Amino acid sequence: ATIHDQKLQRGQGGELHQLAEGATPVLTTAQGGPVSDDQNSLKIGARGPTALEDFHLREKIFHFDHERIPERVVHARGYGAHGYFETYKSLAKYTRADIFQRPGEKTPAFVRFSTVAGSKGSVDLARDVRGFAVKLYTQEGNWDIVGNNIPVFFIQDAIKFPDIIHAVKPEPDSGFPQAQSAHDNFWDFISLTPESMHMVMWVMSDRAIPRSFRFMEGFGVHTFRMVNAKDESTFVKFHWKPKLGLQSVVWNEAVKINGADPDFHRRDLWDAIKAGNFPEWELQLQLFDQEFADSFDFDVLDATKLIPEELLAPIPVGRLVLDRVPDNFFAETEQVAFMTQNVPPGIDFSNDPLLQGRNFSYLDTQIKRLGSTNFSHIPINAPKCPFHHFQQDGHMAMRNPVGRANYQPNSWGEGPRESPQLGFRSFADVEAGPKQRLRAESFADHYSQARQFYLSQTPPEQAHIAAALTFELAKVKTPVIRERMVAHLLNVDRGLANGVAADLGLQSMPKAADAAMATRQDLEPAASLSIVAN
Ligand code: HEM
Repeated sequence: ATIHDQKLQRGQGGELHQLAEGATPVLTTAQGGPVSDDQNSLKIGARGPTALEDFHLREKIFHFDHERIPERVVHARGYGAHGYFETYKSLAKYTRADIFQRPGEKTPAFVRFSTVAGSKGSVDLARDVRGFAVKLYTQEGNWDIVGNNIPVFFIQDAIKFPDIIHAVKPEPDSGFPQAQSAHDNFWDFISLTPESMHMVMWVMSDRAIPRSFRFMEGFGVHTFRMVNAKDESTFVKFHWKPKLGLQSVVWNEAVKINGADPDFHRRDLWDAIKAGNFPEWELQLQLFDQEFADSFDFDVLDATKLIPEELLAPIPVGRLVLDRVPDNFFAETEQVAFMTQNVPPGIDFSNDPLLQGRNFSYLDTQIKRLGSTNFSHIPINAPKCPFHHFQQDGHMAMRNPVGRANYQPNSWGEGPRESPQLGFRSFADVEAGPKQRLRAESFADHYSQARQFYLSQTPPEQAHIAAALTFELAKVKTPVIRERMVAHLLNVDRGLANGVAADLGLQSMPKAADAAMATRQDLEPAASLSIVAN
């Protein structure tokens, strides 16, 4: 007899029960009550009705009924790992952030990689942007760099985010993406949003089908600030550079992999870490001042632009190593709550209107997704440094203020107090101007960096971009959308536009999109682009 056989016993109905024995603990209810029979509900007679009294049955099914939480509204499919960040050198000159003061110091980290558009059960190798979200558990609270594997973004202003996501996600009537006419919704939106052209070039490139999470770059995208102890500010862009270098698959490999193993990327990360091949990224910073920012035609507050690395070399300041898989996917990877608003003293925001909107969105969405204002009580989200505040109660509260005082100031000498010295101080930038819904002229050039990116690619990479555009636009059934896209491509690269138009079988070449008109915010987008349909 095996060990298991020894623990088996037949129940009244002949079913086998595995009994607690030796090291095997007794099964209990969530209330801790020991369970005698987990396989038969309580019935009146062997074939009779089930008794409402059966608290074990009710609790078991009740809990199962509530196992699912809403998936993330974007970036639903993701995979995470634990690790650490190691600081190379003191950055005290630029920032007072504690994490950057002492060379060699290690800070615990959790990273979640993701796709953007697909649902939680979608495939890993979709052509998509990859999320690259890093939570650093610093001694001054959690710092989240909620980035992507592409250094720019589709839109310049957070107010457009619901629209682009609606356009790429399932249509409201069919419940699956682009049902009516293949890819029309997404490309309709893109073709009416010239600011997305730079990002579109990246998304049609090999960057959007990475070989593995381990071979991807990560970018904070926005311009942030570093603020030193003298309250002096330096602009900063965050870049994660993979030690293994960049690698992608080609489209027909991606299609096959998705069919053979939809979990390809998560399996790769799990296997690598389990085998002791810990993936590693270097944190590199582009640091610059206002004068440098003013030297460009584009705006450093515009998330559709990058600062070319040839003009400003990123400086290595530390490394991120992922060396431990989660113990529990749901508890850690699903429940982790990244928020752009999580910054320590010495890191600050810029006025990038996309970043400003994100700072609202993440806190808001976590309450919906995790179900309680107390989501910071979940271990994966809790700071790993001492923390004290007067917030209390609410659903699932695990911690409440201790003692008599749950407010301050108080006369009892109880509880924490603010510290002007140690606490977060916003950089005291001077802001003034009319209150209005307007976009700065400095946000107006939508094509130059799209062109630079395209031209920076090798001929095979350029061919991949052309093939991806043709493949995608060939699924678009509405002719004017295809034509609008070709009209935009004419402003990116004539050869690219001609090639795509020919492969799409366009009858005649549209005129180039009017770059100046396309950026005018006081025109209806359709009107500004109607030239294309002529
Ligand atoms: C989720 C990146 C723009 C709203 C995420 C995640 C990443 C990310 C990496 C997944 C986090 C995770 O793994 O849990 C970015 C980047 C952006 C951007 C790099 C632009 C530069 C925006 C904007 C909004 C937004 C403009 C809204 C105004 C959200 C929301 C989630 C999310 C609601 C789901 C968060 C959750 O449920 O945990 N984003 N995002 N994002 N993002 Fe963004």
